[in-house]
Amino acid sequence: MKIEGKEYRTIWFDEKKQTVKIIDQTKLPHQFIIKDLKTVKDAINAITTMEVRGAPLIGATAAYGLVLSITEKNDLSYLKKSSENLIKSRPTAINLKWSVDRMMKKLSGVNDKDILKIAIDEAKSITEEDVRFCKNIGLNGLKIIEEIFDNKKDTVNILTHCNAGWLATIDWGTATSPIYHAHQKGIKVHVWVDETRPRNQGANLTSYELNEEGVSNTVITDNAGGILMQRGQVDMCIVGTDRTLSNGDVCNKIGTYLKALSAKDNKIPFYVALPSSTIDWNIKDHKEIPIEERNSEELSHVEGVDENNKIKRIRIYPQKSKSLNLAFDVTPAKLVTGLITEKGICEASEKGLKGLFK
Ligand code: MRU
Repeated sequence: MKIEGKEYRTIWFDEKKQTVKIIDQTKLPHQFIIKDLKTVKDAINAITTMEVRGAPLIGATAAYGLVLSITEKNDLSYLKKSSENLIKSRPTAINLKWSVDRMMKKLSGVNDKDILKIAIDEAKSITEEDVRFCKNIGLNGLKIIEEIFDNKKDTVNILTHCNAGWLATIDWGTATSPIYHAHQKGIKVHVWVDETRPRNQGANLTSYELNEEGVSNTVITDNAGGILMQRGQVDMCIVGTDRTLSNGDVCNKIGTYLKALSAKDNKIPFYVALPSSTIDWNIKDHKEIPIEERNSEELSHVEGVDENNKIKRIRIYPQKSKSLNLAFDVTPAKLVTGLITEKGICEASEKGLKGLFK
């Protein structure tokens, strides 16, 4: 998708320099900085500090992290250690483990001479596949937006939470892909963007990327969704996910669950968009999902620019106050209207998912 009219992806391999390029998302929307990752440690650091974030992009960064591990030291035990460290870098998004496992399977038994090329090709194929899948998610989700538009004959208001946009993937996004496809088809859409405290991925990233694509949007506080739904100002919700269980339970950014409850109470369709790399076929009970707990300073401090466009970080509540920063929650399948995947839309249930993914 575009930034200042120029097409970008969130991650790519620089063949000449043998480095991985990323857009540093901790600086958006105030500064647009492209960074080089040169070592597996750089890749781990980018994931941990959230220079890259969003389930599919974390997965792609981990794949390229293994490429960098080979460029540093072509040694099997170093590669294994790198894969373990990458998997530990963020716990909740299953795409991370999925991607590392896929890379390690591809590289097992490969000789030293060929391993780098095979690793680069596989990391590229993970990213290309994600682009294709996200595009298909968009085409499948477009049908829902079209139906609402045909009935309403007016702007379709869509609420989303966090950033499940192209910045969270490689291109298109998951939750935003149907929106971009609708917009490109000339259907009038407007997006309610949940600010998404504490890191404000909605306000900082979703609103930013929608603005760059010319999609009408309004940032709201995380608590405003309820009243907008009661007032009939939301036609549908679409969110992303970091891990969806085979029974259809959806783990996503903290606050998603409350939006789904509110949508249910107001009879508003609540959809979750995901590529199959986000499905966890192993865990059966959502209580087993490792929910990331991040630094409490993400709550107690905010960052923004002053009147001179200088980035400033300030504390917003008493130093003595304790805080708990849980990064994700789980929305039970019964609150989810449907799962929009690359293969089609299905019920949020084992039957639904197995129907699409045999
Ligand atoms: O903590 P983040 O910013 O990595 O969380 C991102 C989300 O919760 C997204 O909704 C999810 O990863 C889906 S991305 C297509």
